[in-house]
Amino acid sequence: MLQLSNKRIVLGVTGGIAAYKSAELIRLLTKQGADVRVVMTSAACEFITPLTLQALSHNPVHLDLLDTRAEAAMGHIELARWADLVLVAPATADFIARLAGGHADDLLTTLCLATNAPICLAPAMNQGMWRDAVTQQNCEELEERNIQLFGPDEGSQACGDIGPGRMLEPEQIAAKTAELFSMDILTGLKVLITAGGTREDIDPVRYICNHSSGKMGYALAEASAAAGASVTLISGPVQLATPERVERIDVISARDMHQSVHDRLAGVDIFIGCAAVSDYRPAEVAGEKIKKDPENGSEVLEIKLVRNPDIIASVTALDQPPFVVGFAAETHNVLGYATDKLRRKKLDLVVANDIGDREIGFGSDCNEVTVIGKEFEEPLPRASKTVVARQLLQIIARCFKDKQGVTNNTESAGCLP
Ligand code: C5P
Repeated sequence: MLQLSNKRIVLGVTGGIAAYKSAELIRLLTKQGADVRVVMTSAACEFITPLTLQALSHNPVHLDLLDTRAEAAMGHIELARWADLVLVAPATADFIARLAGGHADDLLTTLCLATNAPICLAPAMNQGMWRDAVTQQNCEELEERNIQLFGPDEGSQACGDIGPGRMLEPEQIAAKTAELFSMDILTGLKVLITAGGTREDIDPVRYICNHSSGKMGYALAEASAAAGASVTLISGPVQLATPERVERIDVISARDMHQSVHDRLAGVDIFIGCAAVSDYRPAEVAGEKIKKDPENGSEVLEIKLVRNPDIIASVTALDQPPFVVGFAAETHNVLGYATDKLRRKKLDLVVANDIGDREIGFGSDCNEVTVIGKEFEEPLPRASKTVVARQLLQIIARCFKDKQGVTNNTESAGCLP
Protein backbone atom coordinates (compact mmCIF):
# COMPACT_ATOMS: atom_id res chain seq x y z
CA MET A 1 0.00 0.00 0.00
CA LEU A 2 1.41 3.41 -0.98
CA GLN A 3 1.34 5.53 2.16
CA LEU A 4 1.17 8.87 0.35
CA SER A 5 -1.04 7.95 -2.59
CA ASN A 6 -3.13 10.86 -3.80
CA LYS A 7 -1.37 13.32 -1.44
CA ARG A 8 -0.29 16.72 -2.71
CA ILE A 9 2.90 18.00 -1.16
CA VAL A 10 4.52 21.37 -1.77
CA LEU A 11 8.18 20.86 -0.96
CA GLY A 12 9.93 24.13 -0.12
CA VAL A 13 13.69 24.07 -0.54
CA THR A 14 15.72 26.88 1.04
CA GLY A 15 19.40 27.77 0.72
CA GLY A 16 21.43 25.43 2.90
CA ILE A 17 24.00 22.78 2.02
CA ALA A 18 21.43 20.09 2.92
CA ALA A 19 19.47 21.19 -0.20
CA TYR A 20 21.23 18.41 -2.10
CA LYS A 21 19.29 15.92 0.07
CA SER A 22 15.99 17.32 -1.24
CA ALA A 23 16.54 15.36 -4.44
CA GLU A 24 16.45 12.08 -2.52
CA LEU A 25 13.51 13.30 -0.44
CA ILE A 26 11.48 13.99 -3.62
CA ARG A 27 12.31 10.50 -4.89
CA LEU A 28 11.10 8.92 -1.63
CA LEU A 29 7.90 10.99 -1.47
CA THR A 30 6.93 10.28 -5.09
CA LYS A 31 7.77 6.60 -4.64
CA GLN A 32 5.15 6.54 -1.88
CA GLY A 33 2.59 7.96 -4.33
CA ALA A 34 2.74 11.68 -3.46
CA ASP A 35 2.32 14.38 -6.09
CA VAL A 36 5.19 16.78 -5.30
CA ARG A 37 5.55 20.37 -6.44
CA VAL A 38 8.81 22.05 -5.55
CA VAL A 39 9.20 25.70 -4.56
CA MET A 40 12.82 26.90 -4.33
CA THR A 41 14.18 30.11 -2.85
CA SER A 42 16.84 31.89 -4.90
CA ALA A 43 19.52 30.82 -2.38
CA ALA A 44 18.47 27.17 -2.79
CA CYS A 45 19.25 27.43 -6.51
CA GLU A 46 22.90 28.10 -5.56
CA PHE A 47 23.09 24.62 -4.00
CA ILE A 48 21.05 22.47 -6.38
CA THR A 49 19.56 23.16 -9.79
CA PRO A 50 15.81 23.52 -10.38
CA LEU A 51 16.25 21.19 -13.36
CA THR A 52 17.30 18.31 -11.10
CA LEU A 53 14.30 18.78 -8.81
CA GLN A 54 11.98 19.22 -11.79
CA ALA A 55 13.15 15.94 -13.32
CA LEU A 56 12.62 14.07 -10.05
CA SER A 57 9.23 15.59 -9.17
CA HIS A 58 7.92 15.38 -12.77
CA ASN A 59 6.45 18.85 -12.24
CA PRO A 60 7.69 22.36 -13.07
CA VAL A 61 9.66 23.92 -10.23
CA HIS A 62 8.26 27.20 -8.85
CA LEU A 63 10.87 29.88 -8.25
CA ASP A 64 9.47 33.35 -8.38
CA LEU A 65 6.53 35.20 -6.90
CA LEU A 66 6.50 37.71 -9.70
CA ASP A 67 6.99 35.42 -12.68
CA THR A 68 3.98 36.11 -14.90
CA ARG A 69 4.34 32.86 -16.86
CA ALA A 70 4.50 30.66 -13.76
CA GLU A 71 1.66 32.61 -12.13
CA ALA A 72 -0.50 32.06 -15.21
CA ALA A 73 0.15 28.29 -15.09
CA MET A 74 -0.40 27.74 -11.34
CA GLY A 75 -0.39 30.91 -9.27
CA HIS A 76 0.89 31.04 -5.70
CA ILE A 77 -2.61 31.15 -4.21
CA GLU A 78 -3.67 28.19 -6.31
CA LEU A 79 -0.57 26.32 -5.18
CA ALA A 80 -1.35 27.19 -1.55
CA ARG A 81 -4.87 25.79 -2.00
CA TRP A 82 -3.65 22.74 -3.90
CA ALA A 83 -1.37 21.53 -1.11
CA ASP A 84 -2.34 18.91 1.48
CA LEU A 85 0.97 19.69 3.17
CA VAL A 86 3.73 22.28 2.85
CA LEU A 87 7.02 20.67 3.82
CA VAL A 88 10.14 22.84 3.92
CA ALA A 89 13.36 20.79 3.84
CA PRO A 90 15.91 22.12 4.42
CA ALA A 91 14.58 25.09 6.41
CA THR A 92 17.41 27.54 7.10
CA ALA A 93 17.67 29.82 10.16
CA ASP A 94 16.87 32.78 7.92
CA PHE A 95 13.75 31.13 6.47
CA ILE A 96 12.57 30.16 9.97
CA ALA A 97 13.06 33.78 11.12
CA ARG A 98 11.16 35.16 8.12
CA LEU A 99 8.31 32.70 8.64
CA ALA A 100 8.14 33.56 12.35
CA GLY A 101 8.08 37.25 11.42
CA GLY A 102 5.17 36.75 9.00
CA HIS A 103 7.13 37.91 5.96
CA ALA A 104 5.75 37.45 2.45
CA ASP A 105 8.62 38.72 0.34
CA ASP A 106 9.22 35.63 -1.77
CA LEU A 107 7.15 32.77 -3.17
CA LEU A 108 7.72 30.30 -0.32
CA THR A 109 6.95 32.65 2.59
CA THR A 110 3.91 34.00 0.72
CA LEU A 111 2.66 30.49 0.10
CA CYS A 112 3.14 29.55 3.78
CA LEU A 113 1.04 32.56 4.79
CA ALA A 114 -1.67 31.82 2.26
CA THR A 115 -2.10 28.09 2.79
CA ASN A 116 -4.57 26.35 5.09
CA ALA A 117 -2.60 23.12 4.78
CA PRO A 118 -0.37 21.98 7.65
CA ILE A 119 3.23 23.21 7.46
CA CYS A 120 6.25 21.16 8.56
CA LEU A 121 9.87 22.26 8.63
CA ALA A 122 13.07 20.23 8.66
CA PRO A 123 15.59 22.72 10.12
CA ALA A 124 19.16 22.56 8.81
CA MET A 125 21.88 24.88 10.06
CA ASN A 126 25.16 25.19 11.93
CA GLN A 127 24.94 24.13 15.60
CA GLY A 128 25.70 27.67 16.82
CA MET A 129 22.92 29.14 14.72
CA TRP A 130 20.49 26.48 15.95
CA ARG A 131 21.43 27.04 19.59
CA ASP A 132 21.11 30.81 19.28
CA ALA A 133 18.33 32.20 21.47
CA VAL A 134 16.66 33.99 18.54
CA THR A 135 16.38 30.79 16.49
CA GLN A 136 15.04 28.93 19.53
CA GLN A 137 12.48 31.66 20.14
CA ASN A 138 11.42 31.64 16.47
CA CYS A 139 10.95 27.87 16.56
CA GLU A 140 8.87 28.09 19.74
CA GLU A 141 6.67 30.70 18.10
CA LEU A 142 6.20 28.57 15.01
CA GLU A 143 5.29 25.53 17.09
CA GLU A 144 2.72 27.64 18.93
CA ARG A 145 1.25 28.38 15.49
CA ASN A 146 0.96 24.61 14.89
CA ILE A 147 3.90 24.50 12.52
CA GLN A 148 5.64 21.21 13.16
CA LEU A 149 9.41 20.73 13.24
CA PHE A 150 10.97 17.50 11.96
CA GLY A 151 14.30 17.37 13.80
CA PRO A 152 16.95 18.65 13.62
CA ASP A 153 19.38 15.83 14.23
CA GLU A 154 22.75 15.96 16.01
CA GLY A 155 26.09 15.00 14.54
CA SER A 156 28.89 16.15 12.31
CA GLN A 157 28.13 19.15 10.15
CA ALA A 158 29.26 20.29 6.71
CA CYS A 159 31.23 23.15 8.33
CA GLY A 160 33.20 20.70 10.49
CA ASP A 161 31.29 21.38 13.74
CA ILE A 162 29.60 18.67 15.73
CA GLY A 163 26.24 19.31 17.40
CA PRO A 164 22.53 19.85 16.81
CA GLY A 165 21.31 21.40 13.56
CA ARG A 166 21.82 18.65 10.97
CA MET A 167 18.81 18.04 8.79
CA LEU A 168 17.14 14.67 9.38
CA GLU A 169 17.93 12.11 6.68
CA PRO A 170 15.46 12.04 3.76
CA GLU A 171 14.20 8.57 4.87
CA GLN A 172 13.32 9.97 8.31
CA ILE A 173 11.55 13.02 6.82
CA ALA A 174 9.59 10.83 4.39
CA ALA A 175 8.56 8.49 7.25
CA LYS A 176 7.40 11.42 9.41
CA THR A 177 5.45 12.79 6.45
CA ALA A 178 3.72 9.44 5.94
CA GLU A 179 2.93 9.33 9.68
CA LEU A 180 1.14 12.68 9.38
CA PHE A 181 -1.24 11.19 6.85
CA SER A 182 -1.65 7.79 8.50
CA MET A 183 -4.73 9.20 10.24
CA ASP A 184 -6.43 9.24 6.85
CA ILE A 185 -8.84 6.40 7.18
CA LEU A 186 -8.87 5.25 3.55
CA THR A 187 -5.23 5.79 2.59
CA GLY A 188 -4.18 3.47 -0.21
CA LEU A 189 -7.67 2.01 -0.75
CA LYS A 190 -9.57 1.96 -4.02
CA VAL A 191 -13.20 3.04 -3.79
CA LEU A 192 -15.83 2.73 -6.53
CA ILE A 193 -19.06 4.71 -6.11
CA THR A 194 -22.24 4.90 -8.17
CA ALA A 195 -24.31 8.08 -7.92
CA GLY A 196 -27.33 9.84 -9.40
CA GLY A 197 -30.30 8.35 -11.15
CA THR A 198 -30.35 6.45 -14.43
CA ARG A 199 -32.40 7.28 -17.55
CA GLU A 200 -34.26 4.68 -19.57
CA ASP A 201 -35.31 5.75 -23.05
CA ILE A 202 -38.89 5.33 -24.21
CA ASP A 203 -38.36 6.96 -27.60
CA PRO A 204 -35.89 9.57 -28.95
CA VAL A 205 -37.67 12.29 -26.93
CA ARG A 206 -38.81 10.72 -23.67
CA TYR A 207 -37.31 8.72 -20.89
CA ILE A 208 -38.05 7.29 -17.44
CA CYS A 209 -35.94 8.61 -14.57
CA ASN A 210 -36.24 9.50 -10.87
CA HIS A 211 -35.66 12.39 -8.48
CA SER A 212 -32.10 11.49 -7.45
CA SER A 213 -29.81 14.55 -7.51
CA GLY A 214 -26.57 12.59 -6.97
CA LYS A 215 -25.61 14.87 -4.04
CA MET A 216 -25.08 12.05 -1.50
CA GLY A 217 -22.91 9.98 -3.87
CA TYR A 218 -20.85 13.03 -4.85
CA ALA A 219 -20.37 13.96 -1.17
CA LEU A 220 -19.17 10.41 -0.51
CA ALA A 221 -16.76 10.58 -3.45
CA GLU A 222 -15.32 13.89 -2.24
CA ALA A 223 -14.99 12.66 1.36
CA SER A 224 -13.38 9.36 0.23
CA ALA A 225 -10.75 11.21 -1.81
CA ALA A 226 -10.06 13.54 1.12
CA ALA A 227 -9.65 10.45 3.34
CA GLY A 228 -6.87 9.19 1.07
CA ALA A 229 -8.71 6.77 -1.24
CA SER A 230 -8.33 6.64 -4.97
CA VAL A 231 -11.90 7.16 -6.12
CA THR A 232 -13.87 6.36 -9.26
CA LEU A 233 -17.36 7.78 -9.48
CA ILE A 234 -19.78 6.29 -11.99
CA SER A 235 -22.47 8.86 -12.40
CA GLY A 236 -25.88 9.03 -13.98
CA PRO A 237 -26.88 12.40 -15.51
CA VAL A 238 -26.66 15.04 -12.73
CA GLN A 239 -26.06 18.79 -12.43
CA LEU A 240 -23.00 18.57 -10.20
CA ALA A 241 -19.32 19.40 -10.57
CA THR A 242 -16.82 16.55 -10.34
CA PRO A 243 -15.15 16.59 -6.91
CA GLU A 244 -11.39 17.16 -6.98
CA ARG A 245 -9.17 14.09 -7.26
CA VAL A 246 -12.08 11.92 -8.34
CA GLU A 247 -12.20 10.08 -11.65
CA ARG A 248 -15.74 10.46 -13.01
CA ILE A 249 -17.36 8.27 -15.62
CA ASP A 250 -20.69 9.42 -17.02
CA VAL A 251 -23.35 6.89 -17.92
CA ILE A 252 -27.00 7.17 -18.88
CA SER A 253 -28.89 3.92 -18.39
CA ALA A 254 -28.84 1.18 -15.76
CA ARG A 255 -27.29 -1.21 -18.25
CA ASP A 256 -24.50 1.33 -19.03
CA MET A 257 -23.89 1.70 -15.30
CA HIS A 258 -23.83 -2.08 -14.79
CA GLN A 259 -21.24 -2.48 -17.58
CA SER A 260 -19.15 0.45 -16.36
CA VAL A 261 -19.07 -0.90 -12.78
CA HIS A 262 -17.93 -4.35 -13.92
CA ASP A 263 -15.28 -2.81 -16.19
CA ARG A 264 -13.74 -1.06 -13.20
CA LEU A 265 -14.03 -3.53 -10.33
CA ALA A 266 -10.47 -4.88 -10.55
CA GLY A 267 -8.57 -4.03 -7.38
CA VAL A 268 -11.52 -2.22 -5.79
CA ASP A 269 -11.58 -2.49 -1.98
CA ILE A 270 -14.90 -0.77 -1.28
CA PHE A 271 -17.94 -0.48 -3.56
CA ILE A 272 -20.65 2.00 -2.57
CA GLY A 273 -23.89 1.72 -4.57
CA CYS A 274 -25.47 5.10 -3.96
CA ALA A 275 -27.16 5.43 -7.36
CA ALA A 276 -30.92 5.34 -7.67
CA VAL A 277 -30.93 2.77 -10.45
CA SER A 278 -34.09 2.34 -12.50
CA ASP A 279 -35.44 -1.09 -11.66
CA TYR A 280 -37.21 -1.32 -15.03
CA ARG A 281 -36.72 -0.09 -18.60
CA PRO A 282 -39.05 -0.10 -21.60
CA ALA A 283 -38.92 -3.50 -23.30
CA GLU A 284 -38.44 -1.71 -26.61
CA VAL A 285 -37.19 1.77 -27.39
CA ALA A 286 -39.28 3.27 -30.20
CA GLY A 287 -37.08 4.39 -33.08
CA GLU A 288 -39.29 7.40 -33.74
CA LYS A 289 -41.25 9.71 -31.46
CA ILE A 290 -44.42 7.97 -30.28
CA LYS A 291 -47.37 9.99 -31.67
CA LYS A 292 -50.84 10.44 -30.24
CA ASP A 293 -53.01 8.38 -32.60
CA PRO A 294 -56.02 10.58 -33.62
CA GLU A 295 -57.87 7.52 -34.95
CA ASN A 296 -57.54 5.67 -31.68
CA GLY A 297 -59.99 6.87 -29.05
CA SER A 298 -58.09 5.18 -26.20
CA GLU A 299 -56.84 7.42 -23.38
CA VAL A 300 -54.26 4.83 -22.42
CA LEU A 301 -50.76 4.20 -23.77
CA GLU A 302 -49.20 1.01 -22.53
CA ILE A 303 -45.44 0.68 -22.25
CA LYS A 304 -44.14 -2.74 -21.36
CA LEU A 305 -41.26 -2.63 -18.87
CA VAL A 306 -38.63 -5.26 -18.24
CA ARG A 307 -36.28 -5.65 -15.26
CA ASN A 308 -32.86 -4.02 -15.28
CA PRO A 309 -29.87 -5.87 -13.84
CA ASP A 310 -29.39 -5.35 -10.10
CA ILE A 311 -25.90 -3.83 -10.12
CA ILE A 312 -25.10 -4.14 -6.44
CA ALA A 313 -26.38 -7.72 -6.23
CA SER A 314 -24.22 -8.62 -9.25
CA VAL A 315 -21.18 -7.26 -7.37
CA THR A 316 -21.85 -9.20 -4.16
CA ALA A 317 -22.41 -12.33 -6.27
CA LEU A 318 -18.78 -12.28 -7.46
CA ASP A 319 -16.35 -14.91 -6.15
CA GLN A 320 -14.28 -12.31 -4.34
CA PRO A 321 -16.47 -9.24 -3.92
CA PRO A 322 -15.15 -6.00 -2.45
CA PHE A 323 -16.67 -4.60 0.74
CA VAL A 324 -20.14 -3.55 -0.47
CA VAL A 325 -22.31 -0.74 0.88
CA GLY A 326 -25.85 -0.22 -0.41
CA PHE A 327 -28.49 2.43 0.13
CA ALA A 328 -32.14 1.88 0.92
CA ALA A 329 -34.30 4.88 0.14
CA GLU A 330 -37.75 4.08 1.45
CA THR A 331 -40.99 5.91 2.18
CA HIS A 332 -42.27 3.53 4.90
CA ASN A 333 -41.06 0.65 7.10
CA VAL A 334 -37.60 2.08 6.36
CA LEU A 335 -35.51 -0.03 8.74
CA GLY A 336 -37.47 -3.22 7.98
CA TYR A 337 -36.96 -2.96 4.21
CA ALA A 338 -33.34 -1.88 4.65
CA THR A 339 -32.52 -4.89 6.85
CA ASP A 340 -34.19 -7.15 4.31
CA LYS A 341 -32.02 -5.59 1.54
CA LEU A 342 -28.85 -6.16 3.58
CA ARG A 343 -29.64 -9.86 3.80
CA ARG A 344 -31.13 -10.41 0.32
CA LYS A 345 -28.41 -8.53 -1.58
CA LYS A 346 -25.63 -9.89 0.71
CA LEU A 347 -24.41 -6.37 1.53
CA ASP A 348 -21.80 -5.60 4.20
CA LEU A 349 -23.65 -2.42 5.19
CA VAL A 350 -26.85 -0.72 4.18
CA VAL A 351 -27.60 2.97 4.67
CA ALA A 352 -31.31 3.54 5.23
CA ASN A 353 -32.97 6.87 4.62
CA ASP A 354 -36.55 7.99 4.79
CA ILE A 355 -37.34 9.75 1.53
CA GLY A 356 -40.89 10.37 2.72
CA ASP A 357 -39.43 13.24 4.78
CA ARG A 358 -38.94 16.08 2.25
CA GLU A 359 -36.30 17.83 4.37
CA ILE A 360 -33.88 14.98 3.73
CA GLY A 361 -33.08 12.53 0.96
CA PHE A 362 -33.69 13.17 -2.76
CA GLY A 363 -32.57 16.60 -3.95
CA SER A 364 -32.06 18.08 -0.48
CA ASP A 365 -28.70 19.23 0.92
CA CYS A 366 -29.30 17.39 4.19
CA ASN A 367 -29.66 13.79 5.12
CA GLU A 368 -30.41 11.70 8.19
CA VAL A 369 -29.67 8.00 7.93
CA THR A 370 -29.34 4.79 9.87
CA VAL A 371 -26.39 2.55 9.04
CA ILE A 372 -27.24 -1.11 9.42
CA GLY A 373 -24.67 -3.90 9.60
CA LYS A 374 -25.12 -7.59 10.34
CA GLU A 375 -24.95 -6.98 14.07
CA PHE A 376 -25.61 -3.31 14.65
CA GLU A 377 -27.69 -0.28 13.81
CA GLU A 378 -26.20 3.20 14.09
CA PRO A 379 -28.32 6.31 13.51
CA LEU A 380 -26.57 9.42 12.17
CA PRO A 381 -28.36 12.66 13.08
CA ARG A 382 -29.63 15.16 10.51
CA ALA A 383 -26.75 17.11 8.96
CA SER A 384 -25.46 18.32 5.60
CA LYS A 385 -24.70 15.54 3.12
CA THR A 386 -21.00 16.50 3.40
CA VAL A 387 -21.02 15.86 7.15
CA VAL A 388 -23.11 12.68 6.82
CA ALA A 389 -20.67 11.44 4.14
CA ARG A 390 -17.69 11.90 6.48
CA GLN A 391 -19.46 10.11 9.34
CA LEU A 392 -20.54 7.31 7.03
CA LEU A 393 -16.98 6.81 5.85
CA GLN A 394 -15.78 6.49 9.45
CA ILE A 395 -18.19 3.58 9.92
CA ILE A 396 -17.41 2.08 6.50
CA ALA A 397 -13.64 2.24 7.16
CA ARG A 398 -14.05 0.68 10.61
CA CYS A 399 -16.23 -2.18 9.34
CA PHE A 400 -14.00 -2.72 6.28
CA LYS A 401 -10.95 -3.05 8.54
CA ASP A 402 -12.81 -5.37 10.96
CA LYS A 403 -13.82 -7.60 8.06
CA GLN A 404 -10.27 -7.62 6.66
CA GLY A 405 -8.96 -8.60 10.10
CA VAL A 406 -11.42 -11.50 10.23
CA THR A 407 -10.56 -12.59 6.66
CA ASN A 408 -6.82 -12.41 7.33
CA ASN A 409 -7.17 -14.38 10.58
CA THR A 410 -9.27 -17.03 8.86
CA GLU A 411 -6.77 -17.25 6.03
CA SER A 412 -3.80 -17.65 8.35
CA ALA A 413 -5.74 -20.17 10.50
CA GLY A 414 -6.33 -22.11 7.30
CA CYS A 415 -2.55 -22.34 6.80
CA LEU A 416 -1.97 -24.01 10.18
CA PRO A 417 -1.03 -27.68 10.02
O1 C5P B 1 -33.76 -2.68 -4.36
P1 C5P B 1 -33.44 -1.24 -4.22
O2 C5P B 1 -33.42 -0.51 -5.53
O3 C5P B 1 -34.26 -0.49 -3.22
O4 C5P B 1 -31.95 -1.24 -3.64
C1 C5P B 1 -31.22 -0.07 -3.45
C2 C5P B 1 -29.75 -0.39 -3.51
O5 C5P B 1 -29.48 -1.25 -4.60
C3 C5P B 1 -28.95 0.87 -3.79
O6 C5P B 1 -27.68 0.69 -3.18
C4 C5P B 1 -28.85 0.89 -5.30
O7 C5P B 1 -27.73 1.62 -5.75
C5 C5P B 1 -28.74 -0.58 -5.62
N1 C5P B 1 -29.36 -0.98 -6.90
C6 C5P B 1 -28.57 -1.42 -7.93
N2 C5P B 1 -29.12 -1.86 -9.11
C7 C5P B 1 -30.45 -1.84 -9.28
C8 C5P B 1 -31.27 -1.38 -8.24
C9 C5P B 1 -30.70 -0.95 -7.07
O8 C5P B 1 -27.34 -1.44 -7.78
N3 C5P B 1 -30.96 -2.25 -10.43
